[in-house]
Order: sequence, then structure tokens, then C-alpha cells
Amino acid sequence: MFSKFTLALVGGVSTFAMPVINRAVDNTQPAGSNPGSLASGAEYLGPQKSNNSCVKRDLGFTGQISGKWYAVFGDTNYCAPGVTDSTSMLATAGGFYGMVRDSISAMTDNVLETHDLHLNSDTPVAYPLQFVPYNSSWGEDESTGFGGTSLCETNATADEGLIFYAVNENVAGIKGAGVAKVKVVNGVPTVIQRFGDSGYWWNASTTPRYGDVAAYRDEKSDYIYALGGAPNSAVGYAMSDYVYQARVKAKDAFNLSQYEYWQGRAAGWSSELPTHFDSTTAVMWNSGQGTIMWSPHYNCYFFVHTAPGGTDILIRTAPSPEGPWSNDVTVYTATVKEFGGMVYAGVSHPYLDPTGKTLTISYTNYPADTEAIRLTFN
Ligand SMILES: *[C@@H]1O[C@H](CO)[C@@H](O)[C@H](O)[C@H]1NC(C)=O
Ligand SMILES: *[C@@H]1O[C@H](CO)[C@@H](O)[C@H](O)[C@H]1NC(C)=O
Ligand SMILES: *[C@@H]1O[C@H](CO)[C@@H](O)[C@H](O)[C@H]1NC(C)=O
Ligand SMILES: *[C@@H]1O[C@H](CO)[C@@H](O)[C@H](O)[C@H]1NC(C)=O
Ligand SMILES: *[C@@H]1O[C@H](CO)[C@@H](O)[C@H](O)[C@H]1NC(C)=O
Repeated sequence: MFSKFTLALVGGVSTFAMPVINRAVDNTQPAGSNPGSLASGAEYLGPQKSNNSCVKRDLGFTGQISGKWYAVFGDTNYCAPGVTDSTSMLATAGGFYGMVRDSISAMTDNVLETHDLHLNSDTPVAYPLQFVPYNSSWGEDESTGFGGTSLCETNATADEGLIFYAVNENVAGIKGAGVAKVKVVNGVPTVIQRFGDSGYWWNASTTPRYGDVAAYRDEKSDYIYALGGAPNSAVGYAMSDYVYQARVKAKDAFNLSQYEYWQGRAAGWSSELPTHFDSTTAVMWNSGQGTIMWSPHYNCYFFVHTAPGGTDILIRTAPSPEGPWSNDVTVYTATVKEFGGMVYAGVSHPYLDPTGKTLTISYTNYPADTEAIRLTFN
């Protein structure tokens, strides 16, 4: 996970009201209404487990390449040697054995069962290798974080897609947001190239971290959307919680000059990077990381996310993946694991019900367990 921002969010940011920014237009205010009030019943399904490894981890953002769905997890802690059930007391008590900063699984038709890919050769339990490789030529090592969101398909025929990731140097902070090309090799999505002279394209000092909030390959157009947090230069709890967006046609996703950047509802898209960062150029404020999807049941887009620092799973809707987004509807309130606990990373699993009448959602229950619920809409 992006531990830096989650830590920043603990402390109840969400209890503050929307700050008043001295700008004429606030493009992050809700617009439109939610269809049918999104009325739903929610059923808790349980914790997710790997069927061929034993790990405790977070995130698990879903995306598909050539019709196969995968989940990208964040900090992946190996359970102690010999422990095979990641939900057991032994796994919780086992202590630190090792970890990677991200890992990838194939999803199955059971949201609670993942199938881990890129395993090492440990016995009796094999553990995932890191999905986004670090490159020591760029000053990175095994401690460098690569927060990633959903895989996005770029070319189904070639079995190719991409992942956006934020390069997190921990104490030194987030350096930038990058794009990697991913190819499915023998059924395993594999990072085959990272772009940018320093391993990323968007310098986080002055540019939003495109892709670190959500990444979405639109099912109904040629575009990939990348939502990301504010640049490091935008300081203060209000300014640092705005979310910005970029888009690119899937076939051009590895060509930086083809990207377009959102400049707010009035100005729309432009190939220029935004230069000021506030409610006029942002798309959202203070949303958690999440997933965008098309709901065939409601005929609109969903952004499934969480309330930062809180326990609510939220859905907001829009007629287009670029927004404008409605107000949030709380679809579930999770039971946290510890006093002051929280949930984060709202992950939709739309492939489990193509009608959209039900929707399975997973989320991270802090500190390192993903679990799932199923909504049944009216
Ligand atoms: C784990 O899931 C994968 C994908 O569904 C399946 O092919 C495999 O047989 C499962 N493995 C076990 C040990 O159940
Ligand atoms: C690592 O970085 C060096 C220096 O930019 C680059 O030449 C090389 O291709 C990179 N390696 C990988 C595997 O990306
Ligand atoms: C997609 O990949 C196929 C197979 O490699 C290739 O023939 C085709 O030109 C690619 N499409 C695009 C739009 O690049
Ligand atoms: C990122 O931007 C900062 C501030 O402009 C600059 O000091 C730094 O050198 C840039 N990093 C790279 C890798 O270009
Ligand atoms: C990238 O896009 C630009 C147009 O923005 C185009 O001129 C250039 O040829 C493209 N590069 C590649 C490698 O396709």
C-alpha cells in the first residue's frame, strides 16, 4: 500500500467538512443523482486467501487482460514457514518472515480464493515474487515501494496491458508515477518494460501521481483513465487530498506525448500538464483508492472506494468515467480489527456477475487482510 498517505489519513481527515477554497468553481462537488439510490443489501463473505501460497497483504486491485482477471496486491507479507492458512492465529502471530512490495494473483470464480502467480521455490509453501521489478540503476532497491492499481488492457491480441505505479522511496517520499508494459507470458502477467529516464514519467514534486488512486480501461471507449493524488508541492490537508486525472487511448498508452490531462469541468482535456492544483482542476477530493467500472444494471459508471481513515465502503456514479461524479452512497460499514482500525482500497469484481444485479467488492481491513462483501441491488 502507499503507507505514507494512509498514515497521513489516519487521524480522522474524513470528519472535517469540505474545505472552502477561494476559487470560483469547485469541480469536485457532487453533480447529478445516483440511479435508484443504489439501494442494496450487503452480505459479508469472508477473508480472501491464496490457494497456493500463504500471505497477509493489502489492496488487490482488479483488472483484466484478454478476458482473464487479475488482482494487484500491495505490501505482501509472507506468513511464517510452514503456516498454510493466512487467516489462522498462527499466521497473525508468526511475525516477520519476508515481504515484497507488490504481488499479482489470478482471480477465480470465488472472490475469496486467489491463485498467486510468480511464486518463488520455497517449500513447503512458495511465496510471491515482486510484480514490478526494481532497478538499481535508478537508485531503487528491495525496499522501494511500487504502489500499483488495476491492470489495464492495451492490446488483447498481443495479451498486453499496463500498470501505473508510484515509486515510493519511503522516508524520502514518493518520487514519481510511472507506467509499465505488462505481457501475459505463459498465463502470467509479467512486467516487460518500465518507461521514463528514471523509471517513471510524472515527477511527483510537481505533477499528480496519475494512476495511484484508480486506473480503468473503459469498456465502452478506447480510453484508459488514470486518477492520482496531488503533487508533493500541494501541501496541507485540503490541497493534498485533491485527485487529478489523465487519459490516453489504450493503443497509445506507452507514448507519453499521447496523454491528455484534465483541467477541470470547464476546460476539459488538454495535452498540457496542469500547473495549478486545486478544486478547479481536480476531479475529486478526499476519496480513497478504488476501482471504476460500468454497471449494466444501472447503466452508469461506478467508482467503488472507501472513506479515508474510515470504515465505510462507498460508491459514487457518473455518466462517463471522467465524471462528473455524484455524491457517495455508503453500501457497507466494515467491522475493523483493532481499536482505531480502518478499511481502504475499494475493489470491484464485476466479472462475477455480468448482469450487474449483484456486485462483489473486496477491501483491505487494516493492517493486512483483504475481505469481501456482495451487494444485491434492488
Ligand atoms: C487455485 O485456483 C486456480 C485457478 O482457479 C486453479 O486452477 C487451481 O487448481 C487452484 N489450486 C488449488 C490448489 O485449488
Ligand atoms: C534499468 O535502468 C537502466 C538505466 O536507465 C536501463 O538502461 C535499463 O534498461 C533498466 N532495466 C530494466 C530491466 O528496466
Ligand atoms: C496488437 O498486437 C497484435 C499482435 O502482436 C499486432 O498485430 C497489432 O498491430 C497490435 N495492435 C495495435 C493497435 O498495436
Ligand atoms: C523532479 O522535480 C524536482 C523539482 O522540480 C527536481 O528537483 C528533480 O530533479 C526532478 N526529478 C527528476 C528525476 O527529474
Ligand atoms: C508518439 O505520439 C506522437 C504524437 O503525439 C507521434 O508524433 C510519435 O510518432 C509517437 N511515437 C511513437 C513511438 O509512436
